[in-house]
Amino acid sequence: MSNLGFEDTDTILTEDRLFAPSHDVVENANILAYMKSKGFTDYDAFHQWSLENRFEFWEDMAKELHWFEPWQTTFQWTTKPFFQWFAGGKFNITYNCLDRHKDTPTWKKVAFYWEGDDGSSRTLTYEELYVMTNRMAKGLQNLGVKKGDRVAIYLPAIPEQVAALLAVARIGAVHSVVFGGFAASALRDRIIDAEAKVVITADGNYRGGKHIQLKKITDEAVAETPTIEKVIVVHRLGSDVPMQAGRDVYLHDLIADIPEDTVVPCEPMDSEDLLYILYTSGSTGKPKGIVHVQGGYAVGTYTTTKFVFDIKDGDIYWCTADIGWVTGHSYIVYGPLMNGVTSVLFEGTPTYPAPDRFWNIVEKYKVSIIYTSPTAIRGLMRFGEEWPAKHDLSSLRILGSVGEPINPEAWIWYRKNIGHSALPIMDTWWQTETGMILISPTVILPLKPGSATRPMPTIEADIVDRDGNAVGQNKGGFLIIRHPWPAQMRTIYKDEDRYRTYWETIPDVYFAGDAATKDTDGYFRVQGRVDDVIKVSGHRLGSMEIESSLVSHPAVAEAAAIGKPDPLKGEHVKVFVIVKHGYEPSAELEKELKLHVRTTVGALAVPEELEFTPSLPKTRSGKIMRRVIRAKELGEPVGDISTLDG
Ligand code: WTA
Repeated sequence: MSNLGFEDTDTILTEDRLFAPSHDVVENANILAYMKSKGFTDYDAFHQWSLENRFEFWEDMAKELHWFEPWQTTFQWTTKPFFQWFAGGKFNITYNCLDRHKDTPTWKKVAFYWEGDDGSSRTLTYEELYVMTNRMAKGLQNLGVKKGDRVAIYLPAIPEQVAALLAVARIGAVHSVVFGGFAASALRDRIIDAEAKVVITADGNYRGGKHIQLKKITDEAVAETPTIEKVIVVHRLGSDVPMQAGRDVYLHDLIADIPEDTVVPCEPMDSEDLLYILYTSGSTGKPKGIVHVQGGYAVGTYTTTKFVFDIKDGDIYWCTADIGWVTGHSYIVYGPLMNGVTSVLFEGTPTYPAPDRFWNIVEKYKVSIIYTSPTAIRGLMRFGEEWPAKHDLSSLRILGSVGEPINPEAWIWYRKNIGHSALPIMDTWWQTETGMILISPTVILPLKPGSATRPMPTIEADIVDRDGNAVGQNKGGFLIIRHPWPAQMRTIYKDEDRYRTYWETIPDVYFAGDAATKDTDGYFRVQGRVDDVIKVSGHRLGSMEIESSLVSHPAVAEAAAIGKPDPLKGEHVKVFVIVKHGYEPSAELEKELKLHVRTTVGALAVPEELEFTPSLPKTRSGKIMRRVIRAKELGEPVGDISTLDG
């Protein structure tokens, strides 16, 4: 990889460089202030204390938020593996994101600097976001949306998207955000499973200069969803789109008569009431609706935002993720707003109109904390050091990474070119299911490139074998977590059995589905998934979603999708296709099938490689053995296949 323009090219296995934090940063760290309040200055000793005093830690954190009524029980198992945090408490996350800041300097502070794909911009203070949220909440109520109803949100990254989540949560309804890059069938399936009553979309948007017709995709999806009663359309482009009378309403019309000073009181929710459903891909079957609740999720995301990103009053924080993924829910919307920080919200892509778009934004808004993905870093590395070098990046003080393993090469490049060879990188490991960051440095820890370092306070992570025995240091195994934490998913929507598998694959511990190692310093390195989840550019896809799309095409009899290592995207999709009788494999058919995946699942799922094959390896019960296909494809030993169940 010498063409990347730097010398440090150790591989992940031999990587042992240690980067110590600077004295000033440590002294001023939020986490250190808390540690000191408990009598600690050493993270090891503090972490050990936190394992033994989990509930005290989380009670301390929860007390920093506003409760309409205090909780009675900090934690309890109901029927294992079901549990509750802060049971008996009355709470609303929107109150904590907005109302709590009234009468504080935060109220007049900028909540979001919004930067459009096309370079347009808007600025919203906390107060203005509050006004927007309240009017939207009232509008939703006027359409008959009530506590517990599900509302789908299919929007680009615009301030109205943030307000939509907050408005839904404010009135006690449940949001189900669908990533704007998903196509009509994917949107339809998610709306159907959640039985959403309303969908909020836009007239369209631009991404990377391309026009995306969100309303048209929504119309296609909604044509097949029995539960949708209303479609709310936000004017992002200001264009007129076909509106179905009685069903569709523009947001500006919906709220036209709702005065600016309208206040919709926050619904006092039980801690364990649903906040949102977010669909994500699993190993088998259709996407699963991960369920997060109001109280514990808020406490977990508030705490991790504060400690991992060391949020200070003057910070300008920018998480480059999309709100359609969990990173956006936890670390664009809820965590940052509860912390009262000023954020940047960006609609576009890293390379449009030029490969310095990110660095241009950092300079323009004086961003002090940037939280992005390894794929973005690797992608920008390709264009060379001269692009970041054009910009004044001196406002930055903390860098972050999420979504996939960051290879040491990318880590070093990020630190050198974006982090002035000095800034700490928070490599945060977590999942849609975990709701919050679980393994990550804070600014006080020495760093090792490619390692997410140590578990957060109270989190007991380990590497075990199939039977749950700890494998010891420097040995590969399954990553597990031993006890529930507040922001953890409570169930899979309408599928409790599927939820149970997380706690039953290895009895009594949370099975993350990742392979990892732990070194002699207790530092974790996450290698990747052990199931059929494929991480393309950090986006989570399931083999089954791609295969189902392919077999819905008339020419396809059977299909298998696997992830292959990719130097840029982390992984890319390869599919194997058996054509139906009467069809012939051809270059045209290949093109058509790729287009079919694009229009049913979305561009992110389009296979980079497609191979026609006469047969696929299967178990005796007829399941396709993806693991065998993958091993063969990568030239790895196939191993004992007699026990494989596909
Ligand atoms: C992977 C994203 C290595 C991992 C927040 C996990 C990571 C999956 C990291 C969850 C990291 C996430 N290092 N791998 N820092 N962060 N992953 O649900 O495989 O989209 O299981 O949540 O991403 O993906 P999800």
